[in-house]
Amino acid sequence: MIYGRSVFHIVASLIILHSSGATKKGTEKQTTSETQKSVQCGTWTKHAEGGVFTSPNYPSKYPPDRECIYIIEAAPRQCIELHFDEKYSIEPSWECKFDHIEVRDGPFGFSPIIGRFCGQQNPPTIKSSGRFLWIKFFADGELESMGFSARYNFTPDPDFKDLGVLKPLPACEFETGGPEGIVESVQIVKEGKASASEAVDCKWYIRAPPRSKIYLRFLDYEMQNSNECKRNFVAVYDGSSAVQDLKAKFCSTVANDVMLRTGLGVIRLWADEGSRNSRFQMLFTSFQEPPCEGSTFFCHSNMCINSSLVCNGLQNCVYPWDENHCKDQTAS
Ligand SMILES: *[C@@H]1O[C@H](CO)[C@@H](O)[C@H](O)[C@H]1NC(C)=O
Repeated sequence: MIYGRSVFHIVASLIILHSSGATKKGTEKQTTSETQKSVQCGTWTKHAEGGVFTSPNYPSKYPPDRECIYIIEAAPRQCIELHFDEKYSIEPSWECKFDHIEVRDGPFGFSPIIGRFCGQQNPPTIKSSGRFLWIKFFADGELESMGFSARYNFTPDPDFKDLGVLKPLPACEFETGGPEGIVESVQIVKEGKASASEAVDCKWYIRAPPRSKIYLRFLDYEMQNSNECKRNFVAVYDGSSAVQDLKAKFCSTVANDVMLRTGLGVIRLWADEGSRNSRFQMLFTSFQEPPCEGSTFFCHSNMCINSSLVCNGLQNCVYPWDENHCKDQTAS
């Protein structure tokens, strides 16, 4: 993602420098760093059936040098319809290289692009193919205009229309924490959250001890309907279960380990009625950053873990430093 972004910046500056119609001299500023999270701005009112969001100060002029991100999430088996108000104006430019709105079909800044918009004509109605839309509003340092107001509502996903009226999903949440632990899909039935045939949207909240972060390693992962993300996926959130904190989403044949930046991890499994053989098992390890304090164990990567995890039969470090030389220990 970082790679993709820097390429975008390079391409964008080249076009600005070489486009004959450009009236600005390479003024594109990098208003956000790669690590800084973009902020939501303008107003945003949300309700159960949809919501309305606007550019900053709308319908007055938006301020210069802004980047705003809006991520919309619909419930499982719903889609999003987005309508832009006719009172709309964004500084026009060739290919909307300067101020613009960008809409992507998914939860991430690298999800497939639906369109990039600017000028005086409000964009057409936009429909998501799934549960998410990612929207960026970008304003450079010059020529501000009124901006936009967008209204969205949730509509049933046509991919699921043959199922008729759907049963509400069972409540399904788990809480855990400590130096390490395992979260796994078999807990759903074992702990009576849902029957083995019901569709589920379950969340596991993992809370690390104070000043610790979380490392997540898959021990098992298989989706019954591989690559059908609308039917089954495992998602990882970093810091809260809000869509802005969505860090990774897996629905293909492989899932990668994830290093979180916070001490609150949320794992989410969505599986529809025909995907209940989808399963995962994940080991979480709480860690602190070096220098390692007191009796904690240094993983030879950027992790200090609780010393009780050394030689406990589970690999907690990124590489198995905590489980190497364990036979030597017992022999001595
Ligand atoms: C290591 O884990 C044990 C057991 O959970 C806990 O009592 C102890 O405080 C932990 N040590 C550190 C340094 O966090």
